[in-house]
Amino acid sequence: MARRQAIHVALDIGTHKTTVLVAAVEDGTPHVLAYGSSATQGLRRGVVVNIDSTVHSIENAVREAEGMADCEIHSVVVGLSGNHVRGFNSHGMVPVRGGEVTMADVEHVLDAARAVALPADREVLHVLPQEYIVDEQDGIAEPLGMSGVRLEARAHVLTAASASVANVVKCCNRAGLTVSQVVLSPLASATAVLGDEERELGACVIDLGGGTTDVIVYRGGSVRHTAVLGLAGSQLTNDISAGLRSPAPEAERLKQRFGSAVAASVPGDETIEVPSVGGREPRVLSRQILAEIIEPRMEEILTLVSRELVRAGVEGKLSSGIVLTGGTAELDGIESLAERVFDAPVRVASPSRLAGLADVAAGPAGSTGVGLLMIAARAASAPITAGQSGSGVLSRVRGRMSEWIRDFF
Ligand SMILES: Nc1ncnc2c1ncn2[C@@H]1O[C@H](COP(=O)(O)OP(=O)(O)OP(=O)(O)O)[C@@H](O)[C@H]1O
Ligand SMILES: [Mg+2]
Repeated sequence: MARRQAIHVALDIGTHKTTVLVAAVEDGTPHVLAYGSSATQGLRRGVVVNIDSTVHSIENAVREAEGMADCEIHSVVVGLSGNHVRGFNSHGMVPVRGGEVTMADVEHVLDAARAVALPADREVLHVLPQEYIVDEQDGIAEPLGMSGVRLEARAHVLTAASASVANVVKCCNRAGLTVSQVVLSPLASATAVLGDEERELGACVIDLGGGTTDVIVYRGGSVRHTAVLGLAGSQLTNDISAGLRSPAPEAERLKQRFGSAVAASVPGDETIEVPSVGGREPRVLSRQILAEIIEPRMEEILTLVSRELVRAGVEGKLSSGIVLTGGTAELDGIESLAERVFDAPVRVASPSRLAGLADVAAGPAGSTGVGLLMIAARAASAPITAGQSGSGVLSRVRGRMSEWIRDFF
């Protein structure tokens, strides 16, 4: 007899595209049962700037997925990005009351690590443990059951602008959906593409999307640094549109079909037909000119990421190198440009574990959605403990997140 499986629904509201994935997740592998996608209207640089348009994009994607699955979608795990996202490393310390570390002690010490003074307009979304210290013993990944009198935790804390979180939840609610979890997109993307070894040795995942470039650094099995830049693929399209005086949809098409991140690698005799604005005749230009527009902008974005890694003091600690994902990672030549900028090994990654109707999520642009599914499945399988307090979606999320991250990082 077939076993009943929990079904999870991920909603990735990207600046470029809104995607819904419906999946059963078994042993960490999402088996996609249905999907829907719709061009996003209403986001700028990863942040909702028009509620009605965003709701419309969500409704379109949800309707498509519902039609395919022949079911109704009520609850989703949703991704959040934007350059209001901040990550910092924190520390907490509590006494171990019973002489042996319990689940309650672990929750208390993570609460202590998250208890930092934040401006009223920001909130904590994730507290990701890096290591525990029991008395003098550091480097502990799993402190449960250990004897001691003092428990400390080092953790990476991710915060976001409350208004941006509220707007995303509001758009989902208006589209008739409840939000079971809000997960920061960089965390989701990394979950989909990074292997345990890379996480351990040190790797930086860069999700190059349409409106944002999400950066997340792992080392020693846990998150060390995160950053979100408000520059990505749309900027390339805008540059092409302005530089070649071509309408934006044409610039987008030219970028995807003929673009390259390394102008020197494009044969000088290759030409492309460029549609003009205002009904003028199309022109024939060298393909190299297109690459000459793309390369400096792409180099600028990657250089900003590289500076961010230097500023965070992690650039020399990435033994597994750089992992590029997101739609813009499909750009021809991006790997060699990134190798030049970072002077480190680079790979372009798609979700590593995926089954079923994988088409819409199989490429680099699917990483966030697949990662959301994997995170949702882990949260659902974690037991809900006593001591979860508060009401509303986000407090429920936090309660569960502290559970699954314990096993995960
Ligand atoms: N073959 C390609 N070459 C270059 N760029 C591409 C290619 N395919 C897709 N893109 C770009 O990828 C971007 C979309 O990527 P993705 O779907 O990851 O973004 P998003 O999740 O909607 O946006 P964000 O995460 O930034 O909010 C677009 O800017 C698109 O032009
Ligand atoms: Mg994205």
